[in-house]
Amino acid sequence: MKSKLLLLIIFISKIFVMSIPLKKVTQNDVILLNNGSTCSELNSKGRCSLDCPCLKAEQCCSKHGYCGTTSNYCNDPLVSITTEKTTITTKKNIITTTIKKTTTTNKITTTKKTTTKKITTTTIDNSSINTYSANAGIVIYLPNYNLGSSNILDFDFTNIDVVNYSFFRLNDNGEPYSTYNSVDFKNKAIYYLNNDIKKKYPKLRTVLSFGGGSGSGNFGSVLNTDAKIKTVAKNIKNIINELKFDGVDIDWEFPNNETEIKNLLTLLKKLRSYLGNNKILTISASASPSKYQGYSNKFVKYVNWFNIMTYNYAGSWHEYTGYNSPLYSPSKDLNGQKSCHETTSIYINEGVPASRLVIGGAFYGREWKVNSSTNNGYNQVGTTNGCGAPGYTNGSWSYKALREQNILSSPKVATSPWIRTWHSDVKSPTLFNPNTNRYISYDDTDSMCERAAYVKKNKFAGVMVWEVGLDYKRELLNRLIRCYQKY
Ligand SMILES: *[C@@H]1O[C@H](CO)[C@@H](O)[C@H](O)[C@H]1NC(C)=O
Ligand SMILES: *[C@@H]1O[C@H](CO)[C@@H](O)[C@H](O)[C@H]1NC(C)=O
Ligand SMILES: *[C@@H]1O[C@H](CO)[C@@H](O)[C@H](O)[C@H]1NC(C)=O
Ligand SMILES: *[C@@H]1O[C@H](CO)[C@@H](O)[C@H](O)[C@H]1NC(C)=O
Ligand SMILES: *[C@@H]1O[C@H](CO)[C@@H](O)[C@H](O)[C@H]1NC(C)=O
Ligand SMILES: *[C@@H]1O[C@H](CO)[C@@H](O)[C@H](O)[C@H]1NC(C)=O
Repeated sequence: MKSKLLLLIIFISKIFVMSIPLKKVTQNDVILLNNGSTCSELNSKGRCSLDCPCLKAEQCCSKHGYCGTTSNYCNDPLVSITTEKTTITTKKNIITTTIKKTTTTNKITTTKKTTTKKITTTTIDNSSINTYSANAGIVIYLPNYNLGSSNILDFDFTNIDVVNYSFFRLNDNGEPYSTYNSVDFKNKAIYYLNNDIKKKYPKLRTVLSFGGGSGSGNFGSVLNTDAKIKTVAKNIKNIINELKFDGVDIDWEFPNNETEIKNLLTLLKKLRSYLGNNKILTISASASPSKYQGYSNKFVKYVNWFNIMTYNYAGSWHEYTGYNSPLYSPSKDLNGQKSCHETTSIYINEGVPASRLVIGGAFYGREWKVNSSTNNGYNQVGTTNGCGAPGYTNGSWSYKALREQNILSSPKVATSPWIRTWHSDVKSPTLFNPNTNRYISYDDTDSMCERAAYVKKNKFAGVMVWEVGLDYKRELLNRLIRCYQKY
């Protein structure tokens, strides 16, 4: 009798133990991260997660983490891969499973505490200028599409303050989705970044960037009413918290008119109210402040800092060759060349404090074919058509390609017949090949150092780079960091 009871208890407790994982998913919960089992284990049971899309392209992953093709799965999906794009819904009723409440969470909480300390201030916002930390430091872009073959865990984050993980987009219902599901979730890049990597580098802060040059095309229509803006802000807050980012960057390139600028402002305001003061909120801002029609100083109240895209100052749209990313404007220039310093001066005049500005550094340059060798190609009539690194025809040259193609045999030495010229007025180098009449404006270790010094001298918030995948053996990034620490 006694032993029968014991058996029964064992039996019941076995059922109980075994039923725990089942219970999790039969409730209104979702497996956000494929933490426990491998993706093939999940898939073999017809299951899926944000980590792990369904096996067959036509299947949808329901919000309960099951694969199927009917409307039960596809109308309310967790991850829809019926199209190339992946949708991550962030509806209220989606709650993570206890997976997120395990020991991992504890570790992260500790990490977050240190992080939070660094980015919080005790003062309450009480003026047009907020008191959120603008201590940006070295900010790097880490676009998911360059992580395809590499492992994010191998990247050295030493002395990097902020990682800007890009890009997520918004679908037409205002729901965030990953632009590169296989890297972000299947290869777990985001999971590693916000768990393992942050544990290893406790001071590192991570920001998820929304939009981008081609990814913000629908922002105008997705953000055209207060109700929609509110929904988007809530969705963004949810996804940031789910994926454990420290903040969000809004990269809307660019609002078309005053109405859209006001909608951007409303979005920032809503985001700040939902995110609270401890999360980072930044805006990727144009090198042409006039795009914001005088509203830039109104953004200051809500954001930690502006990431100013201080590059693409000259290109195919100009008649003459110029500089892609000069620190200062040249005194004589046939294009009316603008520069980083000109951009930041306008923002500052408009009321954006220098301490809120992060300037950009380009790890790439542009090539033109010119019809005269005067000035070693600078400020001559030229075209970018058909120019560029192997595989490019729009003039694009990454620093990496310049080094790999041996146009630069070392950071500051050009291989003959290429001639390197350092332009001390703009603090940038150019290259010229007199045999082929090719001219390249680019940035190198010295121009990175000038940027770091400029930021420190003028008490800006930091410097960000587009983007680390274009570097060669970390030459530019290391020099930037060294100079940033030195000045
Ligand atoms: C999730 O991963 C963490 C860290 O690897 C582990 O400690 C935890 O037990 C896992 N949780 C589940 C439910 O598998
Ligand atoms: C904001 O400033 C005003 C005027 O100085 C003061 O009366 C008010 O208490 C301040 N509010 C906060 C929240 O600090
Ligand atoms: C602003 O620009 C958008 C996109 O071009 C357009 O749809 C909208 O009508 C414009 N609004 C105003 C008030 O001009
Ligand atoms: C994040 O990346 C986007 C990508 O364009 C960039 O515009 C933005 O400035 C970056 N933000 C941070 C915080 O680096
Ligand atoms: C260079 O181009 C300009 C403008 O098209 C033209 O006026 C000039 O003659 C050209 N020079 C040469 C050497 O082809
Ligand atoms: C050139 O094309 C590449 C690939 O489409 C793109 O990533 C890059 O931004 C373009 N560069 C320029 C300078 O327009």
